Amino acid sequence: MNFTRVLTLSAVLAALLPVSSMASSHFTGNPLQIPPTINGGTLTIRQQALSIWPGFTSNNLVTVNGGIPGPTLRLSRGQNFTATVANQLSEPFIMHWHGILSPGGQADGHPANAVGAGQSYSVSFPVWQQAGTYWYHAHTDMLTGKQAYMGAAGMFIVDDPAEAALGLPSGDHDLPLLLADKRPTATKQLTYAPTMMEVMSGYFGTEILANGTPAAYHVVDQGLYRLRLINASNARIFKIGLSSGAAFQLIANDAGLLDAPITLSQFWLPPGSRAEIVVNFATVPVGGNVALRSLTFPATGMVMPGAPAQGTQMDAVKFYVERAATGSGTVPAMLRHNMPPPESASQRTRNFVLDAAPMVMGQPMEHWINGKVFNAAAVEFTVNSGEVETWSVQNVSDEGHPFHVHGVHFRVLQRVGAAAVPAEDTGWKDTVLVNAGETVRLLVRFDLAEGEYVLHCHNLEHEDSGMMMSFAVRPTAQPVIQTQSSTVVISWPQAVSTYTLETSSTMAPASWLPVSGSPTLAAGLWQHSAPVTSGRAFFRLSSER
Ligand code: C2O
Ligand code: CU
Ligand code: CU
Repeated sequence: MNFTRVLTLSAVLAALLPVSSMASSHFTGNPLQIPPTINGGTLTIRQQALSIWPGFTSNNLVTVNGGIPGPTLRLSRGQNFTATVANQLSEPFIMHWHGILSPGGQADGHPANAVGAGQSYSVSFPVWQQAGTYWYHAHTDMLTGKQAYMGAAGMFIVDDPAEAALGLPSGDHDLPLLLADKRPTATKQLTYAPTMMEVMSGYFGTEILANGTPAAYHVVDQGLYRLRLINASNARIFKIGLSSGAAFQLIANDAGLLDAPITLSQFWLPPGSRAEIVVNFATVPVGGNVALRSLTFPATGMVMPGAPAQGTQMDAVKFYVERAATGSGTVPAMLRHNMPPPESASQRTRNFVLDAAPMVMGQPMEHWINGKVFNAAAVEFTVNSGEVETWSVQNVSDEGHPFHVHGVHFRVLQRVGAAAVPAEDTGWKDTVLVNAGETVRLLVRFDLAEGEYVLHCHNLEHEDSGMMMSFAVRPTAQPVIQTQSSTVVISWPQAVSTYTLETSSTMAPASWLPVSGSPTLAAGLWQHSAPVTSGRAFFRLSSER
């Protein structure tokens, strides 16, 4: 059975090899690597040397299954994701599945749950969220910047039938691109040693690696290509555009498809964020080329003369257009009906203030959220699963902060002071750029989350220097409600012993008040009787497990 497939494959390779070696003469750079695709299994994290730049060996990289990036995880919605993370480093490690709505704690990559050198751990959970481009990367307390910079990252793609039915460009016209800037030495070594100033600004590279390929090129036809872009840089904000200035269609942001495509020619992609664009190469003549790049923009905050800085123009991938269009991909006028909750569904507002701590001579640089550095052991607040909250994120520092939340997707309600929400902030998000001096308001829906998570700045130097906070999502226990003449009896399992029982006479908005009295225990159930007043009454039971 497999034998036939092997024979077919070798026949195809034999036919293709002479063509590509002949044609490669007028290409400059290195062919874009496409990582292998898997759907789980063991991810081995190891320190090793690889040849990334032709003719050089780069030492001490942190590889996932032997590569930087690691293999691409690709699963269908509803499929169970099962993986073992084997830490073969000589330091702690934990992996985070960025944008994936996993259970909290170790399954999510909470820094408090990292495993020591030589140890392994396993995760297993169903992937329930909508199709989209997600990713994974190191998430070890105070080592995230180093481990991710040295390579510990990969892509995590979720498919679903609704998306597949749209007929978007697929197969070799669907290109996942994990983009990260690096700063190689003359002998192409990667070293991670941010100075105090670089802890302030972030650690910038001098060139972009696309799927681990420096100066990447890729041969395309004049058709439509779906490019799934991930900004996996430690600190570099990308302003994505094409070297030709041509427009393209933005079809998805962090957590999957937008309602409808948006035509534009440049947009912001901060570290941690994803965007999917469809590029039509028909505007480039056969034999021509066009580069996907990060455009130049003025840097804010600390700029060290001579050091790599924010806002430098850099190419990510150069596309050589070599033949007429093939493939049948289209971009429908409507993509998905996302149905966000209305702002009126929000049950409370929380405020987050992002700041750089005042510099103290001889002390390491710190970044704060609400005046505190990260404490992996402290859960700073708890929210109830199923609820919607408004988060106001205020940046009082002079650097931009890509604000990221684990375990949830959110909507950007407003950039305070801006007329409208820009294209890259529409749809479902998990990371949003909050520029210096700005306040951004988010509508956060906690639906699949349960356990302990973190929120943080995705500038990894800021994250590692304290701009992170732990929070918990407690499951809302499923109570049974019975009406008995003039009382309602609410019952729930005995195991749920730490709880809050509340009542409201209205919903959306609700005004929850504690139910007075205390429950009795009978036949393995807690039972709480509440008098029925007039009209309707809603009850809510929140618990800690
Ligand atoms: Cu991609 Cu906690 O981050
Ligand atoms: Cu994340
Ligand atoms: Cu930051």
